[in-house]
Amino acid sequence: MQIAIDGPAGAGKSSVAREVARRLGLKYLDTGAMYRSITYKALQEGIDFSNGALLAEIARRCNIEICYDEAAGNRIFVDGKDITAEIRSPEINKHVSVVSKSPELRSELVFLQKKVADKSRGIVMEGRDIGTNVLKDADFKFFIYASLEERSRRRWKEMQEKGTILSFDEVMKEIAMRDRLDQEREFSPLTVAPGAKVIDTTPYSLDEVVEKILNHIQEHKKFSRDIPSKNATDEV
Ligand code: DC
Repeated sequence: MQIAIDGPAGAGKSSVAREVARRLGLKYLDTGAMYRSITYKALQEGIDFSNGALLAEIARRCNIEICYDEAAGNRIFVDGKDITAEIRSPEINKHVSVVSKSPELRSELVFLQKKVADKSRGIVMEGRDIGTNVLKDADFKFFIYASLEERSRRRWKEMQEKGTILSFDEVMKEIAMRDRLDQEREFSPLTVAPGAKVIDTTPYSLDEVVEKILNHIQEHKKFSRDIPSKNATDEV
């Protein structure tokens, strides 16, 4: 069972994908965290973001581990170092869409993402090109989005809670810039995959979006068993 969830920054993909995976007992992969980890390493090593060969080399050389911890959420390790907080910084937000334009880097990361999917017994993978490129034959594809204002409001609130002081306008500008770069890049731009179910999450809570996705999956009857209820504690 492969489920692809794509959409722009701040649409709620990570929280939704994580919960869908938990409810279905599937593995969950946040591919944005992989692009963020490479951006972190490239910044640390002072690598020119337009040098695709060097960016791809980081992806081959570094060991990126993404695991899930119920208390702390996603945890990201690069070569054993926990960089979970670092990869969500304004500095990484600013550069990650430029780094992810590189076709050389994309091909390395897509190779790893396909490998993770092949090794799992089922996966929910989220990003920008999952339904269009990484898992073209996914059983279910979703494209989730919300208005720029709503996505900025969610991100700004999230950042406030973590103590990052950016104004609402700065957050909105940064998201608008990432939208533009992610949609206009030449290789695997953010777009709705053929056959994807499109969900505007603007008026909905996280739980409501999760229910919409699970209902869609249930209705299309590829599952032979019922989907567990919200409070089920399946290990993912
Ligand atoms: O989902 P996110 O905001 O953590 O993603 C960070 C950036 O990574 C995003 O702006 C574009 C890039 N990305 C990508 O190009 N392809 C993916 N499959 C996932 C993320």
